[in-house]
Amino acid sequence: MVSDDFKKQAAERAAEDVLPGMRLGIGTGSTAEFFVHALAQRVRGGLDVIGVATSERTHTLAADLGIQLTTLENLPELDLTIDGADELDAQLTLIKGGGGALLREKIVASASGRMIVIADSSKEVATLGRFPLPIEVVPFGLKTTTNAISQVLGEFDLPQKLVLRGGVATPFVTDGGHYILDAHLEAITQAQSLATRLVEIPGVVEHGLFIGLATKAYVAGTNGVKTVLPV
Ligand code: A5P
Repeated sequence: MVSDDFKKQAAERAAEDVLPGMRLGIGTGSTAEFFVHALAQRVRGGLDVIGVATSERTHTLAADLGIQLTTLENLPELDLTIDGADELDAQLTLIKGGGGALLREKIVASASGRMIVIADSSKEVATLGRFPLPIEVVPFGLKTTTNAISQVLGEFDLPQKLVLRGGVATPFVTDGGHYILDAHLEAITQAQSLATRLVEIPGVVEHGLFIGLATKAYVAGTNGVKTVLPV
């Protein structure tokens, strides 16, 4: 079995947790897309839910599949968010943002009473950081912000390798009109302190460390789908 099959299994398991009347946050990425399809199937079967998408991409897909959608302006509090992750550890601290939607994903997850992560087992790690940490920054003052981030990484004895996603000529632009710097950190051992220091930098909008947000994960691998609760 390949990772897409596992992603689909985790997504389908999470779709079973959706109850009638729920206000849902709907994630972004290939795993979340399997969830959107599974949710749409339940909606076609009569399930009444309303969702807020974490990206334009997810919004378009969910709308096309007939899922009722609204905005956080109309529905500022949600019951449950279901989303993928690039890495998760035993505490269910996550790295997210590989698909570039980290800002809206974090706002939506923070507005939700619960967050379920769906992933294939390759995303489970003992120590976060092998996957580059996405840091969303304002285009204005990019060089200044990059230098400030490098300084903070130095304070944590982390590699100061920051790569502008998409490259200088054609930088990737997020749904919020920002750029992403991918920080190749190898091993993040002080996630909370690093998170705090990063958001103190004026040009940093958000980063992909999700701490204390995920309440459960469904991780699919060769032994089926397992439920992971934060230790
Ligand atoms: C999107 O910005 C991300 O946070 C995704 O949730 C994450 O990158 C996982 O994506 P896949 O499900 O495609 O691996």
